[in-house]
Amino acid sequence: MARLFSIYGKYLVALHSKFTSMTIIETIASLNDSLQTYRDQGKTIGLVPTMGALHDGHGALVRRCVAENDVTVVSLFVNPTQFNNPDDLLHYPRTPEEDNRLLEAMNVDIVFAPTVDEMYPEPDKRVFEFGVLSEVMEGAFRPGHFNGVAQVVSKLFQFVRPNVAYFGEKDFQQLAIVKEMVKQLQLPLEVIGVATV
Ligand code: PAF
Repeated sequence: MARLFSIYGKYLVALHSKFTSMTIIETIASLNDSLQTYRDQGKTIGLVPTMGALHDGHGALVRRCVAENDVTVVSLFVNPTQFNNPDDLLHYPRTPEEDNRLLEAMNVDIVFAPTVDEMYPEPDKRVFEFGVLSEVMEGAFRPGHFNGVAQVVSKLFQFVRPNVAYFGEKDFQQLAIVKEMVKQLQLPLEVIGVATV
């Protein structure tokens, strides 16, 4: 009997992944169209922002998001405004096919992979004030880095309008900055830090 349940369970999982296909979206307009359908159905939306080149740490964020939300959106975008060294930006690893395969296997609903022009049709001149939070530690070595993170994450929050967004606890300075930004902009979402080991 137990064996029958195990076979039946595996069959259901296989059936589920066969019929829930992941959508890869590059534009803000089609992202909004897809998400509006879910919003109209009252579904909860979780977001995991990433720059791609996914590893186990990202996996922990994605699995938590999938478990806790009706719809999971993962963004894959190498954000130029958070790099102060152009060489680092140029050589940042980009592995979209592999990333998409991993995300599909984790039952992600939407991958948002915009171009730089889509995200920044004009230069983003916004300057956030995080005081000492952005000036110490990593901020001291990478001037402007956390301002760039706030620029891109605020845009992602504006486009996806998630109920919840997930960030690694390991990058605790970034997590603190994102929470402070959400507070300053009074955005209606919860930011969750996840232990990624
Ligand atoms: O932690 C990262 O990968 C990036 O800083 C983030 C949050 C995706 C913004 O580009």
